[in-house]
This record gives sequence, structure tokens and C-alpha cells, in this order.
Amino acid sequence: VAPTQFLSILDFGPAQLSACLARAGELKAARSAHRPHERPLEGLHVALLFEKPSLRTRSTFQIAVRELGGHTIEPPEDVALGGRESIEDVARNLERWVAAAVVRTFAQSRLQTFADAAPRLRVINALTDEEHPCQALADCLTLTERLGSLRGRTIAFVGDGNNVAASLAQAATMLGANVRIASPKGFELAASIQVGIASSATSGGRLELTTDPVAAVHGADAVYTDVWTSMGQEAQGPDRHRIFAPYQVNAALMAQAAPGALFMHCLPAHRGDEVTDEVIDSPASVVFDQSENRLHTQKALLAMMAGA
Ligand code: CP
Repeated sequence: VAPTQFLSILDFGPAQLSACLARAGELKAARSAHRPHERPLEGLHVALLFEKPSLRTRSTFQIAVRELGGHTIEPPEDVALGGRESIEDVARNLERWVAAAVVRTFAQSRLQTFADAAPRLRVINALTDEEHPCQALADCLTLTERLGSLRGRTIAFVGDGNNVAASLAQAATMLGANVRIASPKGFELAASIQVGIASSATSGGRLELTTDPVAAVHGADAVYTDVWTSMGQEAQGPDRHRIFAPYQVNAALMAQAAPGALFMHCLPAHRGDEVTDEVIDSPASVVFDQSENRLHTQKALLAMMAGA
């Protein structure tokens, strides 16, 4: 049974996560073969509420809902989340009209407030400051397509211990992978995320944190990075550039990974900062597979949450 709220990867257990990835694979195969597939959202509406910019998440949810038979509504930003009325009242209104809400906001607590106010509404985290679980679904589908089972595989994340790192670590350890995260001191994965992974690690997965990018990448099956300055941190840009410069994923760092290791990035990328053109444009790069898989995994997630 799928949860009615997907605010975090930890709302899934290992069996639900694996089921979602398997379903995404089926939906991907059907779409690629132009075969008709299930339409569990027929006659239903889904609200998309975005407080931050988005290309991939917004577009793929629009397409996903449409391909599952539903319709999206997109209340303008100035009325969407607590501008004119409380977050709770926005949720209570939407609960009367739509089956689900996909929310991109700032603090995870804002998302939690929204979800708590409307228990009948299915709520999906489309990125908060702390977590990005929909990205992690696509990342894990991409990894399993390329590597098969993740049990015993090593995934290295190099850079800021941000929302993308958090959800990737939660999901990949749940699937039995060893996740190594290399971040500068002061930019590590949040302690609350580390505790959550430790208490949910039932599949043999392991989390290791280091400040050394070479140690993290050594022998890894995949190397993942993200921008050094996330949305909302722009004022810290110059300082972050200086601090993160040794964490650039370039050909020399990729050479430390296992032969044939994958390069991953959630996009958008700042080429020349966290990754060189040489790496992101190399045959090792699966960044557009990750982007494509946002669609298939979100279709699977929506179908599961609709009870289909
Ligand atoms: N990776 C990701 O979430 O992309 P967008 O910010 O464009 O949605």
C-alpha cells in the first residue's frame, strides 16, 4: 500500500521503493513502445504549487498527470502558498477540489504544515530546502538500469550535503548501496538526515561521510554532484565558490572511480564549476537519463498514490 503523502523517501519502505521503480520501468517501456497504459487519474485534478523555479520537475509532473488521464491546475505564485492566506487554508481549499498537490517550497516544515492541514489530499514533495525525494526516485531508476541491483554498489556524492544528497542517500542506502558523501567541513549532510538513514537502514546499505573527494570517489560505481549554491543561497555564492573549488568533478577525479563509472547530476548544472564539460559530456554521463526518468518515476508514484 502506497503512502498518501510522499514528503520524504522515508515515507517509503524498501519494498515500496522497489515497487515504484519496477512500475516506472513498465511505464517507461509502454511509453517507448507507444502502447496504451493505465490512466488512474482519469477525471482527477492535481495542483502544482511551486515557490521556486523549475524546468524538469514542473514539466515532468505536467506530462505525467496528463498521460495518466488527469489534469493539472497551477495557482499563481502570489496566491499559492501563504501569500494571501495561511498555508493551512490553501491546503484546506485545495483538498475540496483536487486529488493531489505537488509542492516545491522552502523549509520542509512548510510542506509538513500544508500536508497536516489536509489529510485527505495526497501531497508530494517536489523539492524543499532539506529533501528532493522525486529526484532520488529518478536517480535510483537510472542507477538500477545501468548497474542492476544496488546491493554492495558504491555511490559517491561530491559537494554540498544538500537536499539532493539527502534524498539520494536515503534511497540508495534503502536499496542496499554504500553511499559516500564528500563535503567541505560545515557543509555536511544534516545530522537529522544521518540519523534517519541509520534508523531505516534495513537493506545492508551504508552511509560514509568524508571531507576528501578522492577518498569518496575511489572505486565508486557512480559519481554524483550538484551545484555549489542551491536556490535561495545566492548571496553566499563567492564564498561557496572558494570553499567548493577542490570538490569539482573533473577527469582527474573521475579517474579515481571504478572503470566504467557513471557520472550523475540532477541538473541544472553550472558547467566549469562543480563539473567540467569534459565529464558531463562524456559517455560516462547519464544526466539526461536521470532527467527522462523524472517522468517515468513520477508517473509510477502518482499511480501508486492514486491506489492503482
Ligand atoms: N532537478 C530538478 O529538480 O530540476 P528543476 O529544478 O528544473 O525542476
